[in-house]
Amino acid sequence: MKKVLITGATGGIGEALATAFAKEGYALILLYGGNHKKAQALKERLLPLVPVSIHAIDFTLLEELEDGLQSLVEENPPLDVLVHAAGFSHRGFFHELQEVDYRRLFQINVDPLHPLMKAFLPGMLQAQKGNILCISSIWGAKAASMEVAYAMTKGAVEQFTRSLASELAYMGIRVNAIAPGGVATKMLQNLSEEEQWVFQEDIPMGRLATPEEIAEMALFLVEKAPYITGQILTMDGGYTL
Ligand SMILES: NC(=O)c1ccc[n+]([C@@H]2O[C@H](COP(=O)([O-])OP(=O)(O)OC[C@H]3O[C@@H](n4cnc5c(N)ncnc54)[C@H](OP(=O)(O)O)[C@@H]3O)[C@@H](O)[C@H]2O)c1
Repeated sequence: MKKVLITGATGGIGEALATAFAKEGYALILLYGGNHKKAQALKERLLPLVPVSIHAIDFTLLEELEDGLQSLVEENPPLDVLVHAAGFSHRGFFHELQEVDYRRLFQINVDPLHPLMKAFLPGMLQAQKGNILCISSIWGAKAASMEVAYAMTKGAVEQFTRSLASELAYMGIRVNAIAPGGVATKMLQNLSEEEQWVFQEDIPMGRLATPEEIAEMALFLVEKAPYITGQILTMDGGYTL
């Protein structure tokens, strides 16, 4: 049975990813931060379909992350797919951003990529196959007033994606990212109601993406796109056109 590890599995996009991969028959290893209730409910909902394990690992605690990943590697055969969907966003002037929030943005959005790769790439390399997927954002490539540090982290995720893809392509491992615009999840609640309305008005397709649409694209990249690697796939209803 194929196996996928998903970070941020209790998020709006993470939950849709877990559901889509379960329907495709993947065993699930689900990582999340602190929402135990949602993780447990997700596990109960998907267990009738496939094996599911849930693991609370706070990415802001490096030791917890490294120890947690170490035991996951010991307990599991190599992964087929790893999706880094955990994320944190913060709005405000860059010069007013608290150090703790600046650090947090990198600790959750970028820093886990290194320990995750150290833990799970050796297995994929041995198997000479695997897929790494990141959930970036349109703000990884477009200027993001009031979200400068968030945009910095997503820019880093996109260069990780391209660079690791070029490093691993000849070993059968593909690395891609999806860059959504607005997706209807709790992350968007960072915007006031008025800001959400203005954002939506500016989307040529006139609506946000659903988490399920993002998950379908993730499955497409993994299952149906064997010649695509190092790409950042924008899904924004035409917002950045
Ligand atoms: N929603 C959008 O409009 C949008 C647009 C573009 C890109 N994205 C990107 O899409 C990804 C998923 O976003 P989403 O909308 O699904 O966000 P979300 O609903 O807010 O979920 C965030 C996820 O990240 C996890 N997380 C937060 N802090 C963590 C920590 N310290 N350690 C480990 N995990 C932690 C959360 O776990 P707990 O809740 O269990 O703590 C949750 O599973 C993110 O990378 C985001 O940047 C979202």
